Amino acid sequence: MYENLSRPHGFEPLRVEGQLPEGVAGTLYRSGPGQIERFGHRMSHPFEADGVIMAARLDGNGGALGAARVIESAGYLEEQAAGRYLYGTGAPWGRRVLNTLRGRVKNTGNTRAWTWRGRLFTIMEACKPTELDPDTLEVLGERDFDGAVISAFSAHPHRVARLQTSFNFGLRYGKQTMLDLFALPDNGEPRLLGSFECGWAGLVHDFVVTENHAIFINCPAKLKLARALLQLGDFSSWFGWAPEQGCEIIVVPFADPGAAKRFTVEPFWVWHFVNAFERGDELVIDYCRYADLASLTSLGDGSRIEPPTLHRGTLDLRTGAWRSEQRWERSCEFPRVDSRYEGAEHPHAWFYARDEADGFGLARVDVDTGDADVWELGAQVKPSEPVPVARSGDPDGKPWILSLCHDEQSDHSYVAVLDGGALADGPVAKLWFDQALPETYHGDWVG
Ligand SMILES: [Fe+2]
Repeated sequence: MYENLSRPHGFEPLRVEGQLPEGVAGTLYRSGPGQIERFGHRMSHPFEADGVIMAARLDGNGGALGAARVIESAGYLEEQAAGRYLYGTGAPWGRRVLNTLRGRVKNTGNTRAWTWRGRLFTIMEACKPTELDPDTLEVLGERDFDGAVISAFSAHPHRVARLQTSFNFGLRYGKQTMLDLFALPDNGEPRLLGSFECGWAGLVHDFVVTENHAIFINCPAKLKLARALLQLGDFSSWFGWAPEQGCEIIVVPFADPGAAKRFTVEPFWVWHFVNAFERGDELVIDYCRYADLASLTSLGDGSRIEPPTLHRGTLDLRTGAWRSEQRWERSCEFPRVDSRYEGAEHPHAWFYARDEADGFGLARVDVDTGDADVWELGAQVKPSEPVPVARSGDPDGKPWILSLCHDEQSDHSYVAVLDGGALADGPVAKLWFDQALPETYHGDWVG
């Protein structure tokens, strides 16, 4: 639901329907494009909308508080003061071209709420991360981690438990398009591990890690430079599909980034990876695969596309042999795994599912067998990315699952709390906001 947040508010009690699990205390934060319309102008594509962050805080004793705020970035406040758009396609054409030439971008923070070392950030992939106050959700400012982040920081950091380090990348356009890879250790200084040339100016939204490697797939979406420089049309029209290029896979060893390897495989599109692990000389990569880039336009205009499905790709690092096969027949996206198992072999992954026959669902899929456990929501309730909350001492890797849902009938939103081992039973609790919240893309739990 791409609508504005109608009532921003700080933490206040949520109505709890059902029973919250005893002892689960912490906060779910999620960000999304929550200000799609300002100054009488509706953005044609949600990626351009100003951001909103929501939070649901569980006290561990059956109670919960909720909050939702507009992300008041420097650019947002500048526009509020001016009473008009100064950035993006809402600004006059001349100003837009000047913005491009001067490298001026509004950091909307509209894609991912991310927690690191107990700090809260919201991320938009073209910019540096924005730190927020975790209790008031107020903007504290952009951060570059002591200069490690050059210009961009993707909305998809991943943590490798064995290395006690989170990793992320930024895509930097220029004469040569570069992928900057960052290491953000639990303890110690964040640093730039290396910068890697892309074969073309593409669109790399997510990456995936194993215990020893970062893996990037530069799909054949190619930036139309003149169109982007002249700011013609909305930004989804700045990328063309060039399947003849195939996909470029760049594999970077954490221990020796200079020994990065490159491979070319058949063309496809991926927004999000599920997980990856190593099996001898092979990399095994689970991801949500699309036939092409049509989803970029459909996010703005709602046009129909061939839906994505869960695939398992296997890449032999010695020979470059690549094969990819579908693992589950239903359409699914917004994959998450329990963060304790990122980069390692683990059977369970959680997804948002959607298909014409069954409507929406939240699914736990066994990525080895394709067996699935699904909470079916029908067409009237729309869930969001399922966020796992690890259970202490849980040996099965079946965490609690939190998902922000929009109920069309009441036009209100709630956070569903589900047992990750029994999704089909439906939520054990629903935490109701007294309004509909805007759609969110990605978030994190901090306990
Ligand atoms: Fe994403």
